[in-house]
Amino acid sequence: MDDFIDGLMSKMTLHEKIGQLNLCGAGDIYTGPIASSDIASRLRKGEVGGILNLKDVEAVRKIQDIAVKDSRLGIPLLVGLDVIHGYVTVFPIPLGISCSWDMPAIEQSARIAAIEASADGICWTFSPMVDICRDARWGRMSEGSGEDIYLGSRIAEAMVRGYQGEKPFKNRDNILACVKHFALYGAPDAGRDYNTVDMSRLRMFNEYLPPYKAAVDAGAATAMSAFNVVDGIPATGNKWLLTDLLRDQWGFDGFVVSDASSISEMSAHGMGDRQDVAVLAANAGLDMDLGSECYMGTLEKSVAEGLVPVTQIDNACRRILEAKYKLGLFKDPYKYCDTSRPSKEIYTKEHRDFARSLAAKSMVLMKNEGNILPLKKEGKIALVGPILTDTKEIQGTWSFPGQPERYTTILDAFKNAAGDKAEILYARGCGFADGGNDWQKRNYVYDKGPDFKLRPGTEAESDEAVRIASEADVVVAFFGEHEMESGESSSRTELSMAPAQRELLKRLLATGKPVVLVYFIGRPVVLDWESENVPAILNAWFPGSEAGDALADIIFGDVNPSGKLTTSFPRNVGQIPLHYDELPTGRPNNNGDRFAKFTSSYIDGPNSPLYPFGYGLSYTTFEYSPMRLSSDRMTEDGKITLTVNVRNTGERDGDEIVQLYIRDLVGSISRPLKQLKGFERIHLKKGDAKDVKFTIDADMLKFYNSALEYVCEPGDFEVMVGPNSAQTEKRMFTLLPQ
Ligand code: BGC
Repeated sequence: MDDFIDGLMSKMTLHEKIGQLNLCGAGDIYTGPIASSDIASRLRKGEVGGILNLKDVEAVRKIQDIAVKDSRLGIPLLVGLDVIHGYVTVFPIPLGISCSWDMPAIEQSARIAAIEASADGICWTFSPMVDICRDARWGRMSEGSGEDIYLGSRIAEAMVRGYQGEKPFKNRDNILACVKHFALYGAPDAGRDYNTVDMSRLRMFNEYLPPYKAAVDAGAATAMSAFNVVDGIPATGNKWLLTDLLRDQWGFDGFVVSDASSISEMSAHGMGDRQDVAVLAANAGLDMDLGSECYMGTLEKSVAEGLVPVTQIDNACRRILEAKYKLGLFKDPYKYCDTSRPSKEIYTKEHRDFARSLAAKSMVLMKNEGNILPLKKEGKIALVGPILTDTKEIQGTWSFPGQPERYTTILDAFKNAAGDKAEILYARGCGFADGGNDWQKRNYVYDKGPDFKLRPGTEAESDEAVRIASEADVVVAFFGEHEMESGESSSRTELSMAPAQRELLKRLLATGKPVVLVYFIGRPVVLDWESENVPAILNAWFPGSEAGDALADIIFGDVNPSGKLTTSFPRNVGQIPLHYDELPTGRPNNNGDRFAKFTSSYIDGPNSPLYPFGYGLSYTTFEYSPMRLSSDRMTEDGKITLTVNVRNTGERDGDEIVQLYIRDLVGSISRPLKQLKGFERIHLKKGDAKDVKFTIDADMLKFYNSALEYVCEPGDFEVMVGPNSAQTEKRMFTLLPQ
């Protein structure tokens, strides 16, 4: 590779080298303000290193042809796209997938996404998004894996492996992964997208950076810089972040791409004009300019003026050429352009079956009073909700490769599942928001959305829903967010159900019929009223292309729900940011959830979440035996085995996610009240029991101390096991001094 690239670079002009650093928008997919035009003629001049937002294998082949045949050096293009949770086979939104806690399945979802995307011409995905987030106001929580450091890190690794393949890039269905958004993008002040991030180095290293590092360690070939500032300097121009930490400390050897136009946006951050910000980014170690054309427009001048060393350009160009080489594009520029693949490899029966099962695994049963669920396939079942006939909405955010016309509606899936055993009644009932003030307030303006038809409900629709509910034996209300209420640029200040939906829900409950709420959400929301008043609640997230069948599987009990929350659900917006792994305070509230003066508590509400991290119900029940420890002391090179026996005590087979937490009781810095350190997803037939074993070793006890050294400190620890973060049994052990 080195010889080949040396040879190639010796023939390249500075202009052509900078051309390799240029990533342009080429298709008609809109993912933000990207300034690209006239791609074909610029390709011929060697001014483009890669394109994004173009899909369709024929179209990709045509553009690759221009790069290979019509440019002076024939360097093939990288073709990137945001393949975030599947392609035409759409999986649940990433936050939903994370609730499966099923690492092989998560890896497989990325594998399938890579197969389908690569069959359609794509060789690079801008995924995984591994930003830890504890602020449900931020709409992009939907794209990540929730609030937890350990779980988020395991998912990051699984996704990278899935996209890039076991033997990275060996096969034509292995694509480049891109860990994003480096770094700390999930912690914007006030949960407002693109806003300032400011945190201590300790918090960075202990709480926010580990998933990025896990993805890098798993071999992620590319990384994307974040929009936000880190220590006051935009991530895109932050040398400490992109070079000292990422390359020098972590050993990342891929290339870094900016976020969409985030180089030029550094001007708005107050970092200077277009030339200044390009200098800042290039010298920081930012290799590829996504969409702002700052590199192409100014770097030659900056090199001439001695502001950017030419070695900096050479290094960036080399890294991008290396990625192309590793993908095999120099050997075969058309490796990802086999036009016979799409019909055989996209949206296959196998992929759809897998997506259906993953969608069911991602759903979280929050409440099931009187075991209303599962429903029997009998009598009359009223289905109410605006999403029931809408196959676009079921996909959730970042799903433009989807083909909604091929998906089954939820309504049809329920009719198919019920067959002639039960009668399915249907009414739209309402929209996603009110027509009046609420509509205005939530300001649904999205000027580029091609078919944004968010229609409020009418009184007649609401009456019709009440009419069918009165006629039915049971009512299932499919409410929630519109898919555009979460995702990028979708921050919210209120997280309760839209008033129009709440009003209709009240009317449905007033019929006296049992009501099940199936809730479509892209983030944790406030369910305080619903948890009091609705007997059964199922969080569906946005389940993807197979939503209908997966929901029917769960609601009728053909599949037993097993998902567990990967984010805490707040009781109100005032509690945010909220996460289970808090540090202790000097004035803890030991008064349960009631206010106590001069303790860390609220006058007007509890500290605890409505639903804790790790929570989720099943149609069966599990009982945990007291845990056993092989020893209550260990040395730094020793191990303790923890065993807990879990029994399925209910009437159905089911899956349980057994969780292990640890607390470091005394440290050189204050340590969290508990932190997830292990988990296991097990299947138990009804009546069966199983020993679940965890090995505790010194690695699990390590953290970054004040000098940012990664250490474990001798002393006492609590170890906790249970079905969720708030319901754990605890024991102590001691790490002995060396
Ligand atoms: C998003 C990225 C995405 C990029 C390219 C940006 O607006 O922040 O996550 O990968 O657009 O579409």
